[in-house]
Amino acid sequence: MTDATAGGPREVPPEQLHLLTEFVGRSRWFGGKGRPFQVVGVRRLGRLPACADDGPEVAIDLATVGFEDAQEGSGESGQDYYQLPLAFYTEPQDRLEHAFVGHFEDSDFGVRYVYDALHDRLAMGCWLRSFVDQPEGPLRFHRIPGHELDLDTHSTLFSGEQSNSSVAFGEDSLLKVFRRITPGANPDVSIHEVLTRAGSDHVAALFGWVDTPALRQEGQTEDQVLTLAMLQQFLRTASDGWDLALASIRNLYAEADLHADEVGGDFAGEAARLGEALASVHRTLAEEFPTEDRTADQLAELAEGMRRRLDAAVEVVEGLAPHADRVRGVFDALAGLDGVQVQQVHGDLHLGQTLRTVRGWKIVDFEGEPAKPLAERLLPDSPWRDVAGMLRSFDYAPHVVERSWGDDEGAQQRAYRATEWATRNKRAFLDAYVGRELTPAEQTLLDAYVADKAVYETVYETRNRPTWVGIPLEAVARIGES
Ligand SMILES: Nc1ncnc2c1ncn2[C@@H]1O[C@H](COP(=O)(O)OP(=O)(O)O)[C@@H](O)[C@H]1O
Ligand SMILES: [Mg+2]
Repeated sequence: MTDATAGGPREVPPEQLHLLTEFVGRSRWFGGKGRPFQVVGVRRLGRLPACADDGPEVAIDLATVGFEDAQEGSGESGQDYYQLPLAFYTEPQDRLEHAFVGHFEDSDFGVRYVYDALHDRLAMGCWLRSFVDQPEGPLRFHRIPGHELDLDTHSTLFSGEQSNSSVAFGEDSLLKVFRRITPGANPDVSIHEVLTRAGSDHVAALFGWVDTPALRQEGQTEDQVLTLAMLQQFLRTASDGWDLALASIRNLYAEADLHADEVGGDFAGEAARLGEALASVHRTLAEEFPTEDRTADQLAELAEGMRRRLDAAVEVVEGLAPHADRVRGVFDALAGLDGVQVQQVHGDLHLGQTLRTVRGWKIVDFEGEPAKPLAERLLPDSPWRDVAGMLRSFDYAPHVVERSWGDDEGAQQRAYRATEWATRNKRAFLDAYVGRELTPAEQTLLDAYVADKAVYETVYETRNRPTWVGIPLEAVARIGES
């Protein structure tokens, strides 16, 4: 089935745009919360062939979200694209009430009750079938051979705090539907594809993905691919690394007289295995993607960016200024390096992007830093950026648990033990990652990335969770001490 209107903006009555605006605004994946916005346009990327009696018509729309506060030249985007997979029914569906978008006339289907398709087993069954049937049309379902998809499964939408939407098909596969769409190949797919073909043990194998060549942007003559979704191995026995770390710390606090290395929930063995897993992933990425050497000039430029972010942070974060000189010293050391190797990295690594399974640690979500443009996220970078992200996460976890206790006479003891847990697990992770002493240049790089990240966190917490700003601020205070 082909769809002549694919990719083109559609005429949509204002009432319908209004309903879509409300739907987007109440969806947890919407990244523009807090800013005034409206859905200003919709295009139909394509339709899926019907695949069930009494089933819905299924289409994928792309909503253009316009922000009313966008200022020219501010760097803040004035428009974002969001993917809306929709299910269209002639009768209201009580079972989908929580996913209701609206009752309106669609130019392809007529007057319909419209629902978010990700909540609908019938609609998601059509998605999964399409990986097998490979329908013609603007929506392209790509598959990597080697795994037979289980089509007799029911879909379940994940309920976590996610920026995308993930649907599990039984215990067989997981479909991650990208919500905010940036034109260009999504690194989550391209990196998973390479790691899967290379046989990496530390990622969920990629089964396939969906894309469309639909969007032509202003000023461009070529259609740019839009990556819409990724189908991968469902890690059945997975526990979230962040949750496991928090459990270990609660365990430590429950055993008032014991130290971090004495309690049942000690995490250091896990931290070490995670370090080995990351080292293995980095090695494979370095083999499979191009690597480069950063020149002295490029490193000086990198350090300059960090200095600029520090200067801006000092303006915003109370209590940062007294530490700024020491942090600048760390960035100066970075600027003095030469010939540092860079490669494809994860780019947004923390404990929440790791899963422990019975077959070892897996690393997920290779989309990179969501705020950066896609092309930039595929550029080589230093693996120490990922290591720094993990170290910051090992520092956050115990202090988050510590803060959930309140201010009683045990507070000082808990603060001491939080630091003890962080130090122990950072050490275990780093030792296993490197497997030897760090060279002075490696230490310099790592210190700079940790400092840059902690500075970023002080700004983030000041704006979003002011009572937590002490967590990164204490980390900044320790920088350059040892
Ligand atoms: N292959 C998988 N199997 C099982 N659970 C997974 C898998 N991949 C991711 N998850 C779970 O889904 C959550 C969100 O996945 P992630 O790829 O990080 O999505 P997002 O881009 O929305 O952050 C992860 O934190 C993890 O708990
Ligand atoms: Mg994630």
